[in-house]
Amino acid sequence: MYKKKPFFIVFEGVEGCGKSYQSKKLFLRLRKNKVPTVLTREPGGTKSAELIRDLILKDYFKKSKEEKFDKYTDTLLYLAARNEHVKNKIKPELDKKKVVICDRFVDSTLAYQVFGKKVSLNFIKNIQKVILGDLKPNITFILKVSPKSSKKRLRKRKSKNRYDNFPQKFYNKAQNSFLKIAKRKKNYFILDSSNDDNFLENRIFGIISKYLNIKN
Ligand code: TMP
Repeated sequence: MYKKKPFFIVFEGVEGCGKSYQSKKLFLRLRKNKVPTVLTREPGGTKSAELIRDLILKDYFKKSKEEKFDKYTDTLLYLAARNEHVKNKIKPELDKKKVVICDRFVDSTLAYQVFGKKVSLNFIKNIQKVILGDLKPNITFILKVSPKSSKKRLRKRKSKNRYDNFPQKFYNKAQNSFLKIAKRKKNYFILDSSNDDNFLENRIFGIISKYLNIKN
């Protein structure tokens, strides 16, 4: 029998890996099973954090280097958005014993800012200590995707974002960073999401059902 408890689930992976799709599928399925669940995303998730998201994503389309945010400003904006999100949404919802599903979280900062842009890990760690306190995801799904499938999915998108025009090499590097982060860690599941069928959503629901003790 399902018993209400706070549970924090994160989906991570490169653009076009299907994490937004899988987060939504899991959200709908949990709700159908009467599990109080919130679906959210980073950067964003609250009104104020979505405003910061707009700033970050618009910056990518600026042409000149002088106009663009410095990589530390950019990192601080991700962290500022995270602070708003954690304080005003994630923690309050977990306090109400809800399941929170988040599309991207701290591992995206590691993959893109630390591994990708060589921003200091200690800089991020120190600020995040204050933002997160003892908050940690219970489960993180890393969705792995083949270059062919991610390209196909990105081509179908109406709105472009910051990393949508990067060369394949960039995605490979980001994906390898996610895999490195997940290696030998408890509570991480690396799943292949290259195929467009419902095998993966069933597998994800199966994993979560066990943790939450949902009988179906
Ligand atoms: P999304 O479009 O997948 O929701 O994410 C927006 C972009 O933000 C995506 O390209 C990855 C990037 N990002 C970072 O670089 N660092 C972070 O900490 C987060 C949460 C996202």
